Amino acid sequence: MRTVISADELRTGIASLARRLETHYQGQPVMIVGLLNGSLLFLADLVRELRIPVEYDTLRVSAYRGEATTAGAVRVEVGHVPPVRGRHLLLLDDILDTGATLQAVTELARGWGALSVRTAVLLWKRDRTRAGFLPDEYIREIPDVFVVGYGLDYNRKYRQLPKIVEFDPSIPAARQGLPS
Ligand code: IMP
Ligand code: MG
Repeated sequence: MRTVISADELRTGIASLARRLETHYQGQPVMIVGLLNGSLLFLADLVRELRIPVEYDTLRVSAYRGEATTAGAVRVEVGHVPPVRGRHLLLLDDILDTGATLQAVTELARGWGALSVRTAVLLWKRDRTRAGFLPDEYIREIPDVFVVGYGLDYNRKYRQLPKIVEFDPSIPAARQGLPS
């Protein structure tokens, strides 16, 4: 099992992210909204590390990807809209891949009346991200490999792992040191 980020590195990475956010928000309250389900563990650990006033909520988005011709086109369906009017909004996701999901949500969120909208992700696959969109904050840049753990899944599995590891769907999970 090839570790991409160990549990220790996640802890220190999230702690330094918290310090950067404290500097950015200068004591102002922030509404942190985590995209379900991938950002749940990240959200839980980040809010406990932050020393500024925080509220948090979650957002379930269904992203329907088009065919190759419309690659990156994502329709976002939002059920519950978090109360962000008049607040600084920080959107969290596990990973920024093409950027389609976070870009669509960011555009939606701008219409919700937040004072500001920023994004933070654990991982950034920079080489795959469409031009013109980048995360405001990220913990680690990674190459184009598939990863699972700490919120990231393969067919809804492996989100519970305390670290992030590479995963090859063409090889049986047990042979990669993962529960099958
Ligand atoms: P994007 O819209 O292309 O940026 O994709 C973001 C979403 O794709 C993430 O929220 C993940 O659910 C999923 N994703 C992208 N890369 C990976 C990966 O390596 N492992 C697990 N999920 C991934
Ligand atoms: Mg996912």
